Amino acid sequence: MNKNFYITTPIYYPSGKPHMGHAYSSIIADIFARFKRLEGFDVLFLTGTDEHGQKIQKEAEKNNKDPKKFCDELSETFRSLTKILNLTNNDFIRTTEPRHFKSVNEIWSRLIKSEDIYLDKYSGWYSVSDEAYYDTDEIEDKEGKKISKISGSLVEWVEEESYFFKLSRFQKKLLDHYKKNKDFILPKSRRNEVISFVEKGLKDLSISRTSFSWGIPVPDNDKHIIYVWLDALTNYLSALNFPNTDDKKYTSFWPADVHIIGKDILRFHAIYWPAFLLAANLPLPKRVFGHGWILSDDKKMSKSLGNILDPIDIIKNYGIDQLRYYLIKEVSLGNDGSISMENLKNCINNDLANNYGNLCQRVFSFIKKNCNNKIPDNNNLKENDINLINNIKNNIPKLIDFIDNQNLNDYIKMVVNFSFEANKYFNDSEPWSLKEKDPNRMKAILFTIIVQIKNISILLNPIIPISTQKVLNTINLSNKDISIESIKRDNILDCSLELKSLDILFKKIDNDN
Ligand code: MSP
Repeated sequence: MNKNFYITTPIYYPSGKPHMGHAYSSIIADIFARFKRLEGFDVLFLTGTDEHGQKIQKEAEKNNKDPKKFCDELSETFRSLTKILNLTNNDFIRTTEPRHFKSVNEIWSRLIKSEDIYLDKYSGWYSVSDEAYYDTDEIEDKEGKKISKISGSLVEWVEEESYFFKLSRFQKKLLDHYKKNKDFILPKSRRNEVISFVEKGLKDLSISRTSFSWGIPVPDNDKHIIYVWLDALTNYLSALNFPNTDDKKYTSFWPADVHIIGKDILRFHAIYWPAFLLAANLPLPKRVFGHGWILSDDKKMSKSLGNILDPIDIIKNYGIDQLRYYLIKEVSLGNDGSISMENLKNCINNDLANNYGNLCQRVFSFIKKNCNNKIPDNNNLKENDINLINNIKNNIPKLIDFIDNQNLNDYIKMVVNFSFEANKYFNDSEPWSLKEKDPNRMKAILFTIIVQIKNISILLNPIIPISTQKVLNTINLSNKDISIESIKRDNILDCSLELKSLDILFKKIDNDN
């Protein structure tokens, strides 16, 4: 079996400070990366910054900065966000790096070689903020201004010499690919969206600009700058040392297993990117997953609405595990979801503090008081103990399937339910009433509940890594044993060791906080 797994986030425009939308794409990708590692995969998880194009050049000018210096500073804020979000990315790519220039040049020459590029003139609408071309029927008037119906961004009329990519030639090939590979685009609703767009016919795509200079010049004609999306998408290959296709990174990790993106950039990833790759005679990624938007006050976050949520502030107030958990539990991954501080507090109190946190803390303090602070070594389990334990074990294939289909909602629902069941089992079995009456039965119950805590913690580990690691350390599970395989092994627990002490896992939040 191929045990390599390559997952990517979009590379972010360092045109301003990172916000919750950026954090969301990255946290989702990190959860999948962590889970696949727990499954024993060699995971390459890539993120980075998308630094070329007119949008960045304009922003740098506004700030009176040289674009490279401007990007150096802002890219650093995205890099430091990876630490704040506790991401496990193996690499952070910047499109201003030499390794990326090499790849983009190679892609360009492959497209020239396949005769998919020609020189002409572009006249049409362009949105600098989306770095996207729009057709006339995608434009509307709003308060005397022309905006894109799709994104709501301002567009401007552009007329300039441009190289074109023969996108029209790829309509049938793309449709065939979508048909043959039903899971190439997920969720299904997005797949349908893309298919109906492509079915309407594809126009050739302008892939160079001449009205600004910040970008990668077209080889042999440096009057032209390569279109920033052709430049940016190639990052997924640059990080594998492409064009060196003999390189171990490339041979192990291409094609990518999944590109995690937001729904607003689906067209680029599900149409343009596979078309470029087909033209360049390179394999296509296995999946493009488009998540929905995080809404603040039920609206998409934007500077002009002033409803931008700053992930760093929220993490300072509530904690990173808390934010990660909340985003996954409360926002249905493929759809848009509103978030509010009120819901976040409820989620921390009800799910994390009262359910999982309380379970761990109650059981550990009971063991400390009544069992010399050691997990009772008792395998005299009854049928209902074994059933409880087996319920998690038997569901592992289902849980893996949820993850492999980016179905985090059902995944988390099932795991939270395990935690409710474990709490109920502890309450219903009343080990405190058995201290004198039946100490052996009490020990069997405690053993069972610790096995459940171990297994639930492993399953929650990709989502709330810091807290679950603390719990697993408390029961002396070594880091190398934090794996899906360990769920199948009850004898992995060392009953000769004392439990380590554990501070409160999740502080309850008062309503005035
Ligand atoms: N630079 C391009 C991506 C190039 S990938 C080869 C880009 N950058 S971005 O910074 O504008 O956005 C990056 C990601 O953040 C996108 O996936 C986008 O969907 C996501 N989000 C931006 N705002 C968002 C929300 N409000 N909610 C959720 N995600 C959204 O596009």
